[in-house]
Amino acid sequence: MDGTAVAMMVESRATNPVLSMIEASTGPRSDLSPTPATVVATHNPFPHGHHRPDSTPSHSETFPAGGSCDPPGVVNPIEVFCWTAQSRRRNLVVPPLAAMEGTTMRTRRIGDAEVSAIGLGAMPMSIEGRPDEARSIATIHAALDAGVTLVDTADAYHSYAGEVGHNESLIARALAGYGGDTTGVLIATKGGHLRPGDGSWTVNGSPAYLEQACDASLKRLGVDAIGLYQFHRPDPKVPFADSIGALRDLLDAGKIRMVGISNVSPEQIRQANEILGGRLASVQNQFSPAVRDSEAALRLCAELGIAFLPWSPLGGRSVAGVLGTRFAAFAEIARAHEVSPQRVCLAWLLAKGPAVIPIPGSTRPETIRDSAAAAELALSAGELARLDAS
Ligand SMILES: NC(=O)c1ccc[n+]([C@@H]2O[C@H](COP(=O)([O-])OP(=O)(O)OC[C@H]3O[C@@H](n4cnc5c(N)ncnc54)[C@H](OP(=O)(O)O)[C@@H]3O)[C@@H](O)[C@H]2O)c1
Repeated sequence: MDGTAVAMMVESRATNPVLSMIEASTGPRSDLSPTPATVVATHNPFPHGHHRPDSTPSHSETFPAGGSCDPPGVVNPIEVFCWTAQSRRRNLVVPPLAAMEGTTMRTRRIGDAEVSAIGLGAMPMSIEGRPDEARSIATIHAALDAGVTLVDTADAYHSYAGEVGHNESLIARALAGYGGDTTGVLIATKGGHLRPGDGSWTVNGSPAYLEQACDASLKRLGVDAIGLYQFHRPDPKVPFADSIGALRDLLDAGKIRMVGISNVSPEQIRQANEILGGRLASVQNQFSPAVRDSEAALRLCAELGIAFLPWSPLGGRSVAGVLGTRFAAFAEIARAHEVSPQRVCLAWLLAKGPAVIPIPGSTRPETIRDSAAAAELALSAGELARLDAS
C-alpha cells in the first residue's frame, strides 16, 4: 500500500470474505445484496515511512458521523456490522481487516492509524510481580501472532528506581526479535508519571520534564518518532494547558506522530483538543465492569472522533481473574457463548462504540490470545443491556 488514497470495490457474495464472515455469525442474510457495490476509500495509516506489509486494504472509512452500529435485529460490537444510514442504502460497509502473517483482526482507528480493535496492555510485564523476560517476550509475540497491532506502554512501567523505561525496552526487544513484519504495530507510550522505587506513583507535568521524558522514550524504543505519545496523568502543580502545550510542541517538532491524554475529565478532553488544534488522537481512562464513571468521556470521544482506550478493562490484576464471580451476568453470558467472562467483558466494551479500543494487560500467551478473540464475539442487544445493568 502506498500513502495515496485508493478505492476498493467489494467483491461479489461468492468471493467476499466479509459477507461470508457475517453469514457465518448470523446465518444467511438475504437483506444484503449478492452484488454489493459499496466503495470505500483506504489509505496508509502510517504516512511517515511505515507501511503495512500485506496487500490487505489497510484503512477503511467505516464510521461516518451519526451512524448507528446496530443493524436491525443484530447487535455486533465490532465494525463488521457497523451500519449507517448510508450503508443501509448502499449495502454493506466493508470492515477493515488487518493482517499479521496470515491472521486477521478487526481494526479501529487512532487518529490516522489503523490498529487492532483489541490492544495489549504491557504494564504487568514490568511492574511488581512481573514474569521473567522469556515469558513476557512470548506474550508479546503471541499478541502479534493474534493480529494485535497496538501495544500500550509507559516510561513509568517499571518496578525499581534505576530501571525507568523497563517496559519500553522490553517491547523494543520483543519487536526486534519477532519473526514477522512489525512495521504496522503502533506503540503507544506515555510520559508524566514517575516511580521513585518505593511502590508509589508520582507525577511531573512540567514542559521541560515531558520533553526530556519523550527524548528518553524515543531512544529506548529506537524510533525517530513515537507513534502515540500520551500524557499519563494531569499534574495538579502544573497548569494542564502547559503540559498539553509541551505535547503540541513535540508533535510540531515531529518527535511524536500522535498525542493522547490519560486520566482526564470531559472538560480536559475539550481543552486539550483545542490546544492541539483538533489533533487529539486518544483518551485513556479507567473503564471496566467495576469502574464505569468515564461514560461521559467515552461519549465525548465518540462525538469528537477521538479513540477511547479503557485501561484496566478487566478490573486490574486483582479482579481480572475473578471477574465472572464478581459480576454474575458476565459469567452467565460467557457460559451461553462458551467463552471466558473476560472475553465477554472486552466484547461489551467494544460494543460501546467504534471509538473504543480496550487494552487488556497480559503476562501469558493464553490470556492475550483469549482477549484478542473478543473482537470476534458478537453479543445481542439483550445481552448488552443485561451487562450494562449488572
Ligand atoms: N493510563 C493509566 O493510568 C493506566 C493505569 C493502569 C493500566 N493502564 C494500562 O492498561 C493496561 C491494562 O490494565 P491492567 O493490566 O492494569 O488490568 P486488566 O487489563 O484489567 O487486567 C490484567 C490482568 O488480566 C488478566 N487477563 C487478561 N486477559 C485475560 C483473559 N482473557 N482471561 C483471563 N485473564 C485475563 C491478566 O492475567 P495474566 O497476567 O495471567 O496474563 C492480567 O493479570 C495496562 O497494561 C496498561 O497498559 C493504564
